[in-house]
Amino acid sequence: MSEAVSLSRFILQQQRKYPEAAGDFTLILEQIAFAAKIISREVNKAGLVNILGSVESKNVHGETQQKLDVYSNEQMVKALDPTGKVCAMASEEIEEMLPVSDKSLEGKYAVVFDPLDGSSNIDVNVSIGTIFGIYKRLDDNDCEKSLLQAGQSLVCAGYVIYGSSTMFVYTTGQGVNGFTLDPSIGEFLLSHPDIKIPEYGKIYSINESNYFRWPKGIQEYVNFIKQHPDRQYTLRWIGSLVADFHRNLLKGGVFLYPEDSKNKNGKLRLVYEANPMAFIVENAGGMATDGRQRILDIKPESLHQRVPLIIGSKYEVEKYLEFREKYG
Ligand code: AHG
Ligand code: MN
Ligand code: MN
Ligand code: MN
Repeated sequence: MSEAVSLSRFILQQQRKYPEAAGDFTLILEQIAFAAKIISREVNKAGLVNILGSVESKNVHGETQQKLDVYSNEQMVKALDPTGKVCAMASEEIEEMLPVSDKSLEGKYAVVFDPLDGSSNIDVNVSIGTIFGIYKRLDDNDCEKSLLQAGQSLVCAGYVIYGSSTMFVYTTGQGVNGFTLDPSIGEFLLSHPDIKIPEYGKIYSINESNYFRWPKGIQEYVNFIKQHPDRQYTLRWIGSLVADFHRNLLKGGVFLYPEDSKNKNGKLRLVYEANPMAFIVENAGGMATDGRQRILDIKPESLHQRVPLIIGSKYEVEKYLEFREKYG
């Protein structure tokens, strides 16, 4: 039985490689993990406490907010703001850049997050998650600009998946590592060291109900893989980006939420969904594109802009691009 390595110890070991890291970054990461434990506790007793269902309010996307959306957002803000290390935060659930307390204005980092991903699955007990990305603050005093950097400027990205177990998966650009929460000691323990996504995969994740709204190239691509001459694909779609992506990260395959005639830029948000996942998948040897360019190259114009997301194994994403090239 290999020695148990806690997330805290792993982060400190990583920090030693960057002497200039004053520990601010480490504190931020630890606090995100702390918020994840609190959210996990609520998720795991959701049916027993008054945390299911929705609240009256709607978010900037017109989505009715679930109680757990609001609760998770509060936990992330309460975990990050008191550190004084985060000068700006952006959340799916808050329209504008989140105001931080005075002492945080000097913070050297900016954090973007989707506090609860897969909200439609909360009340039916299906896996959901939290997604986050961390940027260094730009010299510019306009903290919002620090939130709108291209994904390739991320210094850290990760997600938490609240599933059969709670896992914390993250990268600082030096490989991807996964930690599983041991509730009996309240620690995330290293369970998936140095995750690499297989170059090929037989699992495709897409909401096929949008088929007749897709451009021809996407229809032709999906038809091709459904009758692939020598590989038997299978379709898996949970409706939680974190859960669907996690499966492809570990087993290989491709997740697609492309544009269609109704949603010209797809459904997922660039800043706090596509970018963090793209940073993770590239650090695991995979690819992420909007169908024309690398996700991490896109310069965000606004906090909540949507982007088509095709992400996963290199071969699978490249095959998709071939069909878009050929059929539009
Ligand atoms: P969120 O719950 O944070 O708003 O995200 C939901 C997203 C993503 O998690 C998932 O892949 C996608 O919505 C599912 O979309 P459909 O309901 O259209 O399948
Ligand atoms: Mn939502
Ligand atoms: Mn989401
Ligand atoms: Mn969400």
